[in-house]
Amino acid sequence: MDKHRVHTKIKELREKLNFHNRQYYVLNEPLVSDYEFDHLMKELERLERAHPEFDDQLSPTHRVGNDSNQEFVQRQHKYPMLSLGNTYSTDELIEFDQRVKKNLTSEYTYVCELKYDGTAISLTYINGRLVYGVTRGDGVQGDDVTENVKTIRSIPLILTGNDFPEEFEIRGEIFMPKEGFSKLNMARIEAGETNFANPRNAASGSLKMINSSQVARRPLDCFLYHLAGENLLHSTHFENLQKAREWGFKIPEYFELHNSLEGVLTFIDHWQSARKDLPFEIDGVVIKLNELSQQRVLGFTAKSPRWAISYKFPAEQVETLLESVDFQVGRTGTVTPVANLKPVLLAGTTVKRASIHNADQIRMLDLHFNDLVRIEKGGEIIPKIISVNIDKRQIFTSAVEFITACPECGTTLIREPGEVRHYCPNDLNCPPQIKGRIEHFISRKALNIDGLGQETVNLLFQNGLIRTPADLYDLTTSDLAGLEGLGDKSTSNILESLESSKQVPFPRVLYGIGIRFVGETVAKRLAQSLKSMNGIIGASRERLLEVNEIGERIADSLLSYFQLEQNMAMVNRLSELGLQMKIDDTGLIRNNILEGKSFVVSGIFQKLSRNELKNLIEEYGGRNTGSISAKTSGLIAGANMGPGKQEKAKKLGIPIISEDEFLVMIDHKF
Ligand code: IVH
Repeated sequence: MDKHRVHTKIKELREKLNFHNRQYYVLNEPLVSDYEFDHLMKELERLERAHPEFDDQLSPTHRVGNDSNQEFVQRQHKYPMLSLGNTYSTDELIEFDQRVKKNLTSEYTYVCELKYDGTAISLTYINGRLVYGVTRGDGVQGDDVTENVKTIRSIPLILTGNDFPEEFEIRGEIFMPKEGFSKLNMARIEAGETNFANPRNAASGSLKMINSSQVARRPLDCFLYHLAGENLLHSTHFENLQKAREWGFKIPEYFELHNSLEGVLTFIDHWQSARKDLPFEIDGVVIKLNELSQQRVLGFTAKSPRWAISYKFPAEQVETLLESVDFQVGRTGTVTPVANLKPVLLAGTTVKRASIHNADQIRMLDLHFNDLVRIEKGGEIIPKIISVNIDKRQIFTSAVEFITACPECGTTLIREPGEVRHYCPNDLNCPPQIKGRIEHFISRKALNIDGLGQETVNLLFQNGLIRTPADLYDLTTSDLAGLEGLGDKSTSNILESLESSKQVPFPRVLYGIGIRFVGETVAKRLAQSLKSMNGIIGASRERLLEVNEIGERIADSLLSYFQLEQNMAMVNRLSELGLQMKIDDTGLIRNNILEGKSFVVSGIFQKLSRNELKNLIEEYGGRNTGSISAKTSGLIAGANMGPGKQEKAKKLGIPIISEDEFLVMIDHKF
């Protein structure tokens, strides 16, 4: 194919993928199967790889993010990002309406919307292309999170139609739907990580991650609710939103026009109870004047528009009896208190348990058994105890004390100075910790053993067949076939899956053995830098600290893990069994010539695509950053690069490196 035809084909594929993406993520009306979609994507990836000169940062192939760690640049908002005045009382809504009436001479209409509980975002489009995604920050400037925003499939990268203003900002809320939130939290608990308190925290935490390929894996979504710009097409908020929907934005369907306060109150009433059936969290309703000319008459206070107000739903609370407190031991030994309550109805569900978090919380609440406690369901899935009704306390009740010994194995619990959590130090013999480690080892992101689940692990443990992940490889057909619920098919499935796990790459094995604080990324960094399990075991504390992203907490955890004979024995057994204990020589990781250096790659290159260059930087141990700072080691500059970056590099005295110079630097041949 000649170059021109390739370019046309690439453009066609991008358009097709953008179209189907919108059908799926924005309109919920997929027109092709996942298989067909993936097929088109692969075709585009292949062509883009073969023709890096046609790279486009807004190609749908870039939605997966990249592994480089970005620094968030502060970016000014063209129009300040204000907040909304809010109220919990209908009297204040009446006052708001009276103020509006007093200031206007003509009839007016309100748009009633839901108040989505996530984190605010401002998106700038120039000539129909997404150029910036910026968080609210202090309202004047926020973090430039464009790379992360690009991974959210419901945000259009390129707009449809041709009647959008040349430049405009659209604002909305990035949120995590309830289902995605609970799946994410379950996975985090399984991996021994702390869970997010609510979908709002999960959304804002995810959006601020420095590695966009990790953001791409978070189930984020985005509703848009406000257009800002001088040249909007219509004179009402309502029509502008409808128009924005045509351009490809996900404009929620939950808004209504009302020309009386009664209508507004009915809308509030409806959603106050219907909110529990929504697939995402809301914390109130927003009421906005519809006519833009009337909005201008009302104007703004220093903090918020006078033409809009939010009515917040009161957090739902109820009182019930605290019957007992359980102490649960997690995979990493952390002990968490959980309250058992007299079942009570709250926000549409029956609640039997509430989280108490830790010992400080117990003391702060001065919790006693049989207390009447007030529980609240905020954004959290599990409600929390917020206070105790002291007046109703019975005379002879005892205070709830944090336990001193592990409820599972009896070992004295430890609380490190400065830490809030208690943990059981008997990691080698405490049953939930043993089982938790094995469950972690077999999980999808680690060794990914098919057919083995929590229940089977439990049975195998109870029958004395497994104590460490290495024991899994000694299991025989007769060990498994005897177990309840395991047929021939599942037995052979498990054994086959164990055998093929011997090919799982070393970073996942390192992650799978479950060293405290060694998550997926840390395992990758360690493998990249130290090459093998032996390299890691033999590394001094100083050497460990030299590895990208490894701090003292992780280094000390590694050192103490390998000091234990049992751990060493387990690792050696895994090695003898044939699991991967070093990085693949032919694989991606080469040498560490760029360790400690960070680069900005910008422009279009002759030999490689921007992404290929970025990958090489990482493969040689360096870091990619999105913007130039005094700490940048070099700007790798291609053709058509914006003048801003060059100037900044020159001003800060940062070397500007050509593609060829870079390839010589890493001694890489093509
Ligand atoms: S309009 C100038 N509409 O609530 C008007 N905000 O407390 C700007 N929010 O920062 C905001 N749902 O993050 C608007 N339908 C909605 C909203 C909404 C949620 C958030 C937004 C804002 C905060 C203000």
